[in-house]
Amino acid sequence: RHWGFEDLAAKGPVQRLTLFTGVPVCLITGYAETRELLAHPDVVRSPLDGPHRDTMMDDLINRTERHMLGANPPDHTRLRKLVTAAFTRRRIDALEPRIREIATGLLDQMAAGDRVDLVNAYSYPLPITVICELIGIPPVRREDFRQWSSVFVNATMHTAEEYIEATTLMLDFVHELIVQKQQAPTDDLLSGLIAARDGGDRLSEDELTSMIFLLLAAGHETTVSLITNGVHALLRHPDQLELLKAEPDRLPAAVEELLRYDGPLQAAIPYIAQAPIDIAGSRIEAGEVIVFALLPANRDPRKVERPDELDITRPDSAHLAFGHGIHHCLGAPLARLEGRIALGMLFERFPDLRLAEPERDPVRTPGLLMNAIRELPVQL
Ligand code: HEM
Repeated sequence: RHWGFEDLAAKGPVQRLTLFTGVPVCLITGYAETRELLAHPDVVRSPLDGPHRDTMMDDLINRTERHMLGANPPDHTRLRKLVTAAFTRRRIDALEPRIREIATGLLDQMAAGDRVDLVNAYSYPLPITVICELIGIPPVRREDFRQWSSVFVNATMHTAEEYIEATTLMLDFVHELIVQKQQAPTDDLLSGLIAARDGGDRLSEDELTSMIFLLLAAGHETTVSLITNGVHALLRHPDQLELLKAEPDRLPAAVEELLRYDGPLQAAIPYIAQAPIDIAGSRIEAGEVIVFALLPANRDPRKVERPDELDITRPDSAHLAFGHGIHHCLGAPLARLEGRIALGMLFERFPDLRLAEPERDPVRTPGLLMNAIRELPVQL
């Protein structure tokens, strides 16, 4: 174990602490409590207190944060419905051949070397290419996107100037793209959303740009970690990897277990209680900020047997890596598909793959949100 909430989880399923930002929060680390509260009608989003808020202009905030993740019903329902159709199981399954093609291209490039950084060579480019193609972002701008969205997702690690610059550049580009797609629509998601905005579906301009921001941020950093953390965990558990290679039908269950064991997010972004709630012998007062520590909840010994063991034969653990309730991850079917393809094809192509520095634990992104390995040197 290595995450920020590790020591706290032992102190009970509901507790109080003050984050390093100075905000007092109610921290939930229990599995049952997380499920109950995430489905509770009085657990809602508050107007988000985002990073660098004191120096950001209202305009910039409006154009990036009017998205479903920060919204409550009825806005949430309306916004989510607009993209739900693009993320149905059938639509996502239809992407499979293209995702395999992208993975093959990356594996071919990797094969030219002997030792590579898996993040840079494989886990990162695969999901960013998929999400950019899905939305309709041209290949020439993807490297820019990679840089901007990294500043975005790791906002607290950057200065206000860097954050505002990245946001402004990305907004300018999204605006340019919207104008282009308006003139020449295609069958991608952005064209569909523009049609919705113009067709009376009550999608405002700010909501449109915010939606693109959300999909880009939510749609790739997390999937990068599903792939990297997953490969790392399997390489550290050769018995599990051998079992998977011998019985590839176990791949879907293995992906679920990897999401439970070392999932991409340490926590969901904060919620707030809008009325007092009694839970596990504690009372959460109206107005309290609630943080859900997803990784400890997924290893709650009251829910999972031998929680610290990676076991791909485990019956469905109903993990919380994708959250729960109305904000349950919209992209889960896509993330699962990408995870299965990425892991399956990697070990098929490089059956002798191993950690290049097995004696060293890889460096992870600091902070309490992401659970991301920054670099994973592997020997092909
Ligand atoms: C929401 C995790 C991949 C789009 C969420 C939430 C979690 C999550 C925990 C809920 C957050 C909360 O309650 O505060 C993950 C993980 C992923 C992943 C672990 C990869 C393994 C994706 C992908 C997409 C996506 C690929 C889109 C292409 C979204 C969206 C929401 C969301 C739009 C907001 C849903 C709403 O507010 O109704 N994700 N996600 N995610 N995710 Fe994902």
